[in-house]
Amino acid sequence: MRVVIVGFGVVGQSFAKLLLSRSADLYNRHGIKPRIVACVDNSGSAIAPPGLDLKRLLEAKKTKGTVGGYEKGSTKFDSLQVIDKVDAEVMLECTPTNLNDGEPATSHITTAMRSHKHVICVNKGPLALAFPSLIELANYNGVMLRFSGTVGGGTPILEFAKRCLKGDRITSFQGILNGTTNYILSKMEQGRTYDSAMKDAKEKGYAEANPSLDVDGFDAAAKLVIMANWVMGMKVTMKDIQRTGIVNVTLSDVKNAAERGNAVKLLAVCDSRQLHVAPTEVAKTDPICVDGTLNAVTFSSEHSGQQTIIGRGAGGMETASAMLRDLIEIREATFS
Ligand code: HSE
Repeated sequence: MRVVIVGFGVVGQSFAKLLLSRSADLYNRHGIKPRIVACVDNSGSAIAPPGLDLKRLLEAKKTKGTVGGYEKGSTKFDSLQVIDKVDAEVMLECTPTNLNDGEPATSHITTAMRSHKHVICVNKGPLALAFPSLIELANYNGVMLRFSGTVGGGTPILEFAKRCLKGDRITSFQGILNGTTNYILSKMEQGRTYDSAMKDAKEKGYAEANPSLDVDGFDAAAKLVIMANWVMGMKVTMKDIQRTGIVNVTLSDVKNAAERGNAVKLLAVCDSRQLHVAPTEVAKTDPICVDGTLNAVTFSSEHSGQQTIIGRGAGGMETASAMLRDLIEIREATFS
């Protein structure tokens, strides 16, 4: 399978590392031999139809700051040219999330689909802003759009709901979908101030490049949009979500909740009446009440009751493993 990677930050590089470490296993267990035929970042591109040498690609990024350093004197192509012109089966969209207009990721995705490439997207922007129309465009062009890594990092939250529960009807769900705010709220419970917990979250690399996306609830809202569309079959976008972040949660709110045996969590809720993200008191005995950067979602189904899935919701390698899951799935769906 020929793959184009667009965006080579932490997640893109983790995906390259994962391919390097899993290549024999991927071939033996899944009959799949992915070749990265092109890679683009914001300063350059590297193209090699037989497949790029991934060690060299990672080294170029590390030492020269761009994948354009892979080949001396190579011609500079922009991302849309590469996506459109390079022969490949799959395009991986790994650029940073932009929840204002979804760009440049939305153009990357639409260009890939129009040139009949399947798309694996870990960027929440295009899906949060235009989920229904992107699914339509994928169907129109006869390609697959997969996005496991957008919700839950490596934890298969979307697959759990879509596949494991497909014999039942999910009536509602609620979850902790943002690791950074959960980390901050957990630390506040231990007596740390909001500001010092935020500083810590930034240093540890959990927070988005623009931390307002986390603390104002945009990231959780974007994930809620993706889940509502994919799991519940709704046709909604960011404007349909009522959103309150955690900036007004005080140490005394957290302390008072603890005295009642509860914890304050940034909860995303989807049921027949509402789609919202807001700080909410949750009983400490509830399985959804996880600490630190963990994510947790409880699905309520008509016949099988409630189930909660818990796992690490962020991280380069975790997200890369979700992308690999998508790649294997595309391979199984298209080559069987
Ligand atoms: N900033 C996000 C979080 C990263 O804290 O959950 C994963 O989407």
